[in-house]
Amino acid sequence: MCGIVGYVGERSALDVVMGGLRRLEYRGYDSTGVALVVDGQISAAKKVGKLANLDKELAEHPLPGSTTGIGHTRWATHGPPSDRNAHPHVSNDHRVAVVHNGIIENFADLRAELEAEGYEFTSDTDTETVTHLVDRELRADAPDLTEAVRRVCNRLEGAFTLVIADGADTDRVVGARRNSPLVAGRGDGENFLASDVSAFIEYTRSAVELGQDQVVTISRDGIDVIDFDGNPAPVTEYHVDWDASAAEKGGYDWFMLKEIEEQPRAVADTLLGRHDAEGRLVLDEMRLSDDELRAIDKVVIIGCGTASYAGMVAKYAIEHWTRIPCEVELASEFRYRDPIVGRSTLVVAISQSGETADTLQAIRHARQQGSKVLAICNTNGSTIPRESDAVIYTHAGPEIAVASTKGFLTQLIACYVLGLYLSQVRGTKFGDEIGSTVAELEKLPDGVQALLDRADEVRALAHELADHRTFLFLGRHVGYPVALEGALKLKELAYLHAEGFAAGELKHGPIAVIEPGLPVFVIVPPKGRDQLHEKVVSNIQEIRARGARTVVLVEDGDTSVDPYADIVIRLPQAPTLLQPVLAAVPLQIFAAELASVLGHDVDQPRNLAKSVTVE
Ligand code: F6R
Repeated sequence: MCGIVGYVGERSALDVVMGGLRRLEYRGYDSTGVALVVDGQISAAKKVGKLANLDKELAEHPLPGSTTGIGHTRWATHGPPSDRNAHPHVSNDHRVAVVHNGIIENFADLRAELEAEGYEFTSDTDTETVTHLVDRELRADAPDLTEAVRRVCNRLEGAFTLVIADGADTDRVVGARRNSPLVAGRGDGENFLASDVSAFIEYTRSAVELGQDQVVTISRDGIDVIDFDGNPAPVTEYHVDWDASAAEKGGYDWFMLKEIEEQPRAVADTLLGRHDAEGRLVLDEMRLSDDELRAIDKVVIIGCGTASYAGMVAKYAIEHWTRIPCEVELASEFRYRDPIVGRSTLVVAISQSGETADTLQAIRHARQQGSKVLAICNTNGSTIPRESDAVIYTHAGPEIAVASTKGFLTQLIACYVLGLYLSQVRGTKFGDEIGSTVAELEKLPDGVQALLDRADEVRALAHELADHRTFLFLGRHVGYPVALEGALKLKELAYLHAEGFAAGELKHGPIAVIEPGLPVFVIVPPKGRDQLHEKVVSNIQEIRARGARTVVLVEDGDTSVDPYADIVIRLPQAPTLLQPVLAAVPLQIFAAELASVLGHDVDQPRNLAKSVTVE
């Protein structure tokens, strides 16, 4: 949430910062702003709404040239979206400009203290306190911006990434972080700060990880990192293995459509190098020993939203393949309910961004209880894998659209890989059984591609159903989380009432909402799970009898539902446990198309932002 950029170098800081904000806009789009260091002062422009509004403002009122600057794209927390609450926040003397992601929890006390000293506040934000605090330190005896920021950080409570410029210093931008993301980019005669690498990938693929409670100073010549006590901090550099084009729309109307299309490759890449020719799992990056994995007596999976649905699928697979009890919980609930976890619990944290605050707090809590934490994550260098004992990276490439698609499919793959690996280490499945499941996993990219090739049918369905305001999604077993995911996609993109239910639960209440014409999507398990299959077919009959319009997702060759389905969406054949990778795809396409038909911004749905860094 909130995108932040900082730059010092030889280029036009405005161009670099605006380019960075364009790539980070998915993190928040309530307002945007830039601040440049010009002639001993800060020159700033900011505008409520999307970046296009700031573009217009800058065209009408250009800022002077500068090679040092910062910028921000906001997801509002304190104070409604408005010009005055937009970042950067500039000090009364126009010397200091601050952009911030997070929440300063003690801002009310700090604000009262500063107002008593005569500082004038021009916004409702918590961030503005930081501006005046830094200004006060610079006016007092702080030798430079770095020291001023370090001192101020020690007064702040809460979560924050700050990036700050001093009008009196053309060769320095300072960042600081506690519990919110920030990464530095190392260039040649120029350096960068940003919420994530996509902001500067156009200029450098060399990135520097920043730890908790660190202050980072970028200048033309270098990147210096200290902790909040002023001690030099060790830095880890890494190479970003995707290029700028990965974060471009590449001819698609929406990033989401591009990301849906990228799924066959993303699934294949996530499997790449994870098994040998015999199908034996090889997890080089697993930092937990086989002995540690054998000692586990419970798995707890945590995540939020779509990631939690991937976790629900994983539960079925892990329990079936390993016979280890597995629980799934929303990270935001897990953290605050005093969960029973200990040294023999493996906590699996699933997060595309690696920065989700609820998940991060949950893993910290789990580690405090002595549990080992394994992250399933898509973002190299992000906080969640860094604070975990082990990590399986999904190799989806950058996911820019707010609604997760390839992130979800690759999380499923990583969960299967983990489940099979556990069964291999613990000997709960024979090598040939693991090998045959791996062979089925390897078929999934083609299966996803086949669904993409048939996408027009699903798009046509979205047009046909565009007048409806309520949709239901039903599934059982691993189809249930897919139903939840289908409903979530529709809610977040099309702003429609959509509910996912376990099909077996219908008769315990939800069936009352069925009325003639109501569209109900039903995910039918493969016939291999014979009993389950029959039960879902009965559920379809029950809702059909009450007038529902049934949209049935069923595997190729299964004609048993044809008499009860108003619309059939065919899925390539796959084993039951792997079917979610396929069944989710038409639901993604449907939601994106319906949102588009309704005239919504598919990539940036209202009220949302990607990478939810506040609890
Ligand atoms: C829905 C969606 C969200 C995320 C959730 C967790 O389409 O994208 O529900 O899945 O906010 O995000 P990560 O995976 O980054 O922790």
